[in-house]
Amino acid sequence: MSLITIVSGPEDRPLFFLRGAASTYALGVHASGLLCHLHWGGAVEPDASLAGRLETGGMPFGPEFLGTPPFGGRASPDLLRMEYPTANTGDFREPAVDVLHADGTRGLRLLYVAHRVLAGKPASPGLPATYVESADEAETLEIDLRDAREAGPGEPVSGIEVTLSYTVFAGRDVVVRAARVGNRGDRAVTLLRAASVSVDFSHRGFDLLTLPGAWARERWVERAPLRSGLHESASRRGASGHQAHPFFALLEPTADEVRGEVHGFSLVYSGNHRGGAEVTQMHQTRVFLGINPDGFAWRLEPGESFRTPEVVLAYSAEGLGGLSAQYHRLYRERLVRGAWRDRERPVLINNWEATYFDFDADKLAAIARRAGELGVELFVLDDGWFGRRNDDTTSLGDWIVDRKKLPGGLGDLGRRIEAEGLRFGLWFEPEMVSVESDLYRAHPDWCLHVPGRGRTEGRQQLVLDFSRPEVVEGVYAQVAAILREAPVGYVKWDMNRHLTEVASAALPPDRQGEVFHRHVLGVYAFAERLAGEFPDLLLEGCSGGGGRYDPGMLHYTPQFWCSDNTDAIARLRIQHGTSIVYPPCTMGAHVSAVPNHQVHRSTPMRTRGHVALAGQFGFELDLTKLDAPDLAEAGDLVAQAKATRHLLRHGDLHRLRDPHAGNLAAWMLVSPGRDEAVVTVVLALAEPNWRLPALRLRGLDPAARYRCVHGPAGEWRGDALLQIGLPLDGLTRDFQSLRWHLKRV
Ligand code: GLA
Repeated sequence: MSLITIVSGPEDRPLFFLRGAASTYALGVHASGLLCHLHWGGAVEPDASLAGRLETGGMPFGPEFLGTPPFGGRASPDLLRMEYPTANTGDFREPAVDVLHADGTRGLRLLYVAHRVLAGKPASPGLPATYVESADEAETLEIDLRDAREAGPGEPVSGIEVTLSYTVFAGRDVVVRAARVGNRGDRAVTLLRAASVSVDFSHRGFDLLTLPGAWARERWVERAPLRSGLHESASRRGASGHQAHPFFALLEPTADEVRGEVHGFSLVYSGNHRGGAEVTQMHQTRVFLGINPDGFAWRLEPGESFRTPEVVLAYSAEGLGGLSAQYHRLYRERLVRGAWRDRERPVLINNWEATYFDFDADKLAAIARRAGELGVELFVLDDGWFGRRNDDTTSLGDWIVDRKKLPGGLGDLGRRIEAEGLRFGLWFEPEMVSVESDLYRAHPDWCLHVPGRGRTEGRQQLVLDFSRPEVVEGVYAQVAAILREAPVGYVKWDMNRHLTEVASAALPPDRQGEVFHRHVLGVYAFAERLAGEFPDLLLEGCSGGGGRYDPGMLHYTPQFWCSDNTDAIARLRIQHGTSIVYPPCTMGAHVSAVPNHQVHRSTPMRTRGHVALAGQFGFELDLTKLDAPDLAEAGDLVAQAKATRHLLRHGDLHRLRDPHAGNLAAWMLVSPGRDEAVVTVVLALAEPNWRLPALRLRGLDPAARYRCVHGPAGEWRGDALLQIGLPLDGLTRDFQSLRWHLKRV
């Protein structure tokens, strides 16, 4: 079945129907020639009579214009449901695109010119994106619009052309949108904004769900009813950031985890973003998402074009859980790429919280030996192995091994680690430079800075100007030299401050508004080269924990360090929010020491383990310091990680209890054939004289019998687990957890 159906409305104006598994996205050309939104939600059969629904009539005190041939209808641009709204031409709501023309004027009126349907999804070189592996997985609709007085191939006004692209994937309820703005005129213009999407819903009354946070408190879930006016979630930090996440969802007010309509918006980008909703005077809701226009001004010479990052729009009528399932499947199958996409990831140990900067080869080898005895498969050497890096004041940019700490070099250490039966991994922070470094002394203009202006440091470091290809090249050469020599199978790619005094010594004055975005493109170029030269390298993203845990980075780094907060109880909320968009297989989660280094809480080893088993499991502590019971528990956790990690790769996540809503967190993963599941429950704080009700499970086969093969013993029918639930007797103490590994009998 074709995924895109086009029917002709009055005057042969096209109506486009993009058909997902259980949803439809529909749009069409209005009588004025403007491209307008028709529907995004439950499935609707293509029907020419729906063309009338593009009409809105007029409104008092509203601007209007009269279309010209070939269509010629009257338009009320402040009322129409626009697919890519423009500024300064009668639509007073949030514009998607705005251009400063050579004559100093602003504005566009984008009218329909042509469209085409392509099999599959075209690649977008230089930008991370979802993809297909064969052309029958998706269809893409491209619609050309032009700044013109009339629709069709008539005379343009400014030479600005916009192509909107819509990819619909077979068997999913996902539409991927992006825009390209081209200058076919003969004078340069400045693109002041170019959102990736704008969608006009015909009504109001949504709840807005966002994932705001802070360092060590990433992606908490917030939900509130949308009132009149503008509501935004934005980053001006040069990175997606811990603070505002480039994702949000609109929910009907009665929607919950398993019921109700939910629309999701997820930007595949790692830089400044801005998204949100505007509830209008006419009680419609406009939603927008893309690169933040604040700090953005892109010069478009004649013949040049600008491509926005893409937004993944997902829909579910089965609540937030249904929405997450759409994102999880698409992101793990067709956003993450490379050799590790489909491989089970190693159980790792990272030395950061074990040693910080204070280590030598013997200390590391001793930790690795103990880790090897427990069955850990990868040893990650974190910050502090290079230059003279004994604290965080120095040496970023000098990616040369510190022979004082590691006299035999990385090759020797790597071999010692391998002799303990583990692979070797290494930490880098490629985009940064310490003032106290050879790199900075050699190239003081390689950092982002405004000449003559005082600069702001963050963690006593500066940000390299990755908008300059020679800077990217210079850092890449150093990093690649290490990776070519030492036996490194894994890299943790960190990024520990945000961008300030953003300007580039290499760009002319009229291109300084491009630095933010060019910097991000430089980061992607670096990632692209790394992935190209070292296809077997496992990359784990990191930015002070989960500060750049976004779909853009996940395209290159199949897993991401979820948060610098490793406390098991604090992690419940962080991991819960992360799971709204991101599949568990992308989420790095480690067992650390107690008292916890971030929140000073002491929780049992088993609970720390159960929480870390929700993602890519590892340790972040000195295993040589564990007592015998904790060591035995740690060994059991490693065995569990290996026994159930295939569920991270293929399984469906069900969030059973929201840690924001009470003292209990619970989630489960179910294999695609419903033969196997793991269920985890964590009690944050116990209450006296309180009996926990049984925990009703989801996703199991009601007719099957399941036996617990690890965890509290028991055997139950699927229907009993679904309808009556798993007994939680015995869960009575603060910070206590239970985990069942169920298998079909
Ligand atoms: C960041 C990371 C940590 C660790 C340190 C090293 O904070 O999030 O995991 O790598 O840097 O300096």
